[in-house]
Amino acid sequence: CGIVGYIGKQNISKLLLDGLKELEYRGYDSAGIALLNSKKIDVFKALGKLTNLKEKIQKASLSTYDIGIGHTRWATHGKPTELNAHPHLGEYSYVVHNGIIENYKELKDELIEKGFKFVSQTDTEVIVHLFENYYNLLNDEDQAFKETINRLQGAFSILLISKANTKKIFFFKNGSPLIVAKGNEEGEVLFASSDAPLIGLANDVVYLEDGVGGIATAEKIEFFSDNYSWSTLPSSKQFAQKDGFRFFMEKEIYEQSNVVSDCMLGRLQDEEILFEELDSSILNGIKEINICACGTSYHAGLTASYLFERHSKIRCNVVIASEFRYKEPLLNKNSLFIVISQSGETADTLEALKMAKNAGLKTLVICNVDNSSMTRLADNTILTRAGIEKGVASTKAFSTQTVVLWMLSLYFAKQNDKISQEVLQKELHALREVPKSLIVSDKMHEKTRRLSKRYLHGHGFFFIGRDVFFPLALEGALKLKEISYLHAEGYPAGEMKHGPIALADPELFTIALMPENLLYDKIKSNVEELSARDSTICTISPLEFELSDDFIKTQEASHYMLEFFEMLVVLQLLSMEISIRLGNDVDMPRNLAKSVTVE
Ligand code: G6P
Repeated sequence: CGIVGYIGKQNISKLLLDGLKELEYRGYDSAGIALLNSKKIDVFKALGKLTNLKEKIQKASLSTYDIGIGHTRWATHGKPTELNAHPHLGEYSYVVHNGIIENYKELKDELIEKGFKFVSQTDTEVIVHLFENYYNLLNDEDQAFKETINRLQGAFSILLISKANTKKIFFFKNGSPLIVAKGNEEGEVLFASSDAPLIGLANDVVYLEDGVGGIATAEKIEFFSDNYSWSTLPSSKQFAQKDGFRFFMEKEIYEQSNVVSDCMLGRLQDEEILFEELDSSILNGIKEINICACGTSYHAGLTASYLFERHSKIRCNVVIASEFRYKEPLLNKNSLFIVISQSGETADTLEALKMAKNAGLKTLVICNVDNSSMTRLADNTILTRAGIEKGVASTKAFSTQTVVLWMLSLYFAKQNDKISQEVLQKELHALREVPKSLIVSDKMHEKTRRLSKRYLHGHGFFFIGRDVFFPLALEGALKLKEISYLHAEGYPAGEMKHGPIALADPELFTIALMPENLLYDKIKSNVEELSARDSTICTISPLEFELSDDFIKTQEASHYMLEFFEMLVVLQLLSMEISIRLGNDVDMPRNLAKSVTVE
């Protein structure tokens, strides 16, 4: 979810809508704003994308307001309905919230007992009733807000406004990110979940720490504790435009070749890999690497685990962040803890990073967003330099993450003296070819477009591969699921015979990744086994294979990672073309959000 807030003299509804537009990637199930002046509160909510809310507001007759708050939602508790959309109201107060109140049931029961009426199914609504409960008792809004905060458990970043005092925005940050800013104009205060809505409007910001809150008015911003500091906001915003492409996802697929070059700039030297941003003693005392991430970033992590063991000879474990947190992980001081995240905000990954830091481990984040929660927390940061990624289905973030991790495996290999100059040279040579392998040719795009119409039904897809092509198969399946809503699974090719092959019939589609340079004969046998059981087979390979029903030819390459990147592009295009044919919203698929800041 994304939240914004404003105190000041500008057109508040416009300002909040513009801000929410920047945050729409955080969720787009519904959106809403509440506007307050000394006489009244006006509230607008709409289901679905922000344009629906905008239309509603354009039709309304608005007054002049002093303060306002807004929210774009990714549903956690309660279906995406207008009633469940934020801001949530009590009798005379409104709240927007990002996070999950874990003890909401108990609070709700208590409040219902006291006669409070609930209209939504959300956890958020307890906040506003709780506030009014305390205000009714204490007749002091500041104290009522503090008492409210004391009762909440879980993750909650909130903005609250109330007729009890129409000049104040109450704020608190716990878990999800929240920034408070002094606006460029006299008496202006702004709030947002990330930098983007603030750029151009404010210079001085506080990235709130967990457990910090306060009260803002046009005259002053008061913090409840002194655990905060002001910093300066970057002054320019990179605008993401579709540049003639049909979708951001398409544009981002095409961009990969360029952004990967940016990502390697200065790091890929003639004879070595250089990461100037890394502490040179990063590997001192390190015996193993632990990686944590979610979604597509997890797939980059899995790919890296092969490369770290192969090149750097360092044991590497990869765990999905939401699993890591509660498995009571054994954390050794001799392990380097790496988190991978496009946004740097994913709640599960961020919490895993905090756990590792608290346990005294050395930490490194591989991230696309500077100044994000993770880059501010980790000891070391490597930025992937992919530029803003708008499509919810991640593409260029993954290719840049994978390139960084591949380079890192070689950098570590060199530091630990585990790689010969000859092998290193071969790897560097291959790295230089990556931008070429990511170029989308017309022929390749056309081929996936034509093929897509054959893959719109069936009872399921299996994407299969071996070694690093197994995580790539996972990524291919995830892309298809995300935007086509078809059922797909990624599987290690050699494991199909231990269960999933029972599903094989002509309506089971197998997408087989068959690189020439890595275990070709092994995967060939696995595909033969599936073909013998009548599965429909689509092979992606430089080599033609007589048993394929469909064949997407990739280029012959000198290194399996170059085949990896070309196949990645094929998989991305294929799922995009299938999604387009099915008439889906490619950039904003149903039920998903670009950045998930709840557990
Ligand atoms: C969400 C997105 C995925 C993404 C995952 C991790 O679920 O929809 O595309 O891979 O979060 O995001 P991160 O920003 O941490 O890489």
